[in-house]
Amino acid sequence: MTVRAVIKGVGHYLPERVVPNSEFEAMVDTTDEWIRTRSGIERRHFAAEGETTSQMGALAARAALKDANLEASDIDMVVVATSTPDLTFPSVGTMIQKELGMTSGYAFDVQAVCAGFIYALSNANAQIVSGQAKRVLVIGAETFSRIMDWTDRSTCVLFGDGAGALVLEAEAAAGTSDDRGILSVDLNSDGTYRDMLYVDGGVATTGTAGKLRMQGNALFRQAVSKLASTAQAALVKADVTADKIDWVIPHQANIRIIEGTAKKLGLPMDKVVVTVQDHGNTSAASIPLAMSVGKARGQIKKGDLCVAEAIGGGLAWGAVVLRW
Ligand code: UT7
Repeated sequence: MTVRAVIKGVGHYLPERVVPNSEFEAMVDTTDEWIRTRSGIERRHFAAEGETTSQMGALAARAALKDANLEASDIDMVVVATSTPDLTFPSVGTMIQKELGMTSGYAFDVQAVCAGFIYALSNANAQIVSGQAKRVLVIGAETFSRIMDWTDRSTCVLFGDGAGALVLEAEAAAGTSDDRGILSVDLNSDGTYRDMLYVDGGVATTGTAGKLRMQGNALFRQAVSKLASTAQAALVKADVTADKIDWVIPHQANIRIIEGTAKKLGLPMDKVVVTVQDHGNTSAASIPLAMSVGKARGQIKKGDLCVAEAIGGGLAWGAVVLRW
């Protein structure tokens, strides 16, 4: 008998303020047309003044708990993927734990930038499979609007804020690819790519939060090949072939990266959950947001075979194969 980490609930939160591409035309030398055609983004949400990553993460977590028909007291672990914490410490995880009224269990953050949710899912899966945790909240929450350089047109038009969450629960399973739950994980990183995407400040250097810097075009070329190869590696580990996939749930950075990766996997775009037009790039929040929206749209259904893949700063990249 095998133990699987099975999805019991999903939810998300998006800040109220929606910012269309046209708003950037007054700020930097750009056009709605350039942003749409080069990235696929049409609008994004920005957190209100004073609205934080932990507040958004807690709202997404509450929605996921409701979907799972569970209480916060049923959860024994909270893991939050974020690169934009409220404070340097304590973790966003413990802040969300408090917000949910949990006084037991344990909470922490993982930081793998845009690949963070894949890393957090991998961690949650390992703790469930090893027997250390039974029910886990896996949250991706970001306020990237706080680390934008509003004079840099090559980055400030691309990112957005939001949060998404999953509830995972340990369940006995047969140990085959027909099981529900997480079937495989593939993780990778290579720190030699540091300068391709980083934030130019931090606790031990400038003492400030810093601003995001990105070599977009160089990263674009890395993204398509690395995303396709990590997704393929995860499919092999799960013992399934790409033609069996019902849904690709990609990190939502750029529609052209999403299309290029689907093409390399030999999958049509009608098997891909796409939210980039409405959310922009929400870093570690983008995959759980796409999962929640994909389920709400009626795309992702119980029993569907899904592959989620992401790449971001580090570089760090990875993929998860799961049956919903
Ligand atoms: O989430 C982590 C992973 N992130 C990614 O994977 C992002 C990867 N990169 C991308 O999505 C794309 O590279 C971008 C959307 C960032 C840029 O698209 P691109 O087709 O790679 O454009 P580019 O960087 O090669 O720039 C083309 C031109 C440049 O002008 P010149 O040098 O050709 O005159 C840029 O200065 O577009 C210019 N440009 C803009 N023009 C209007 C850059 N940003 C803008 C802008 N508006 N906002």
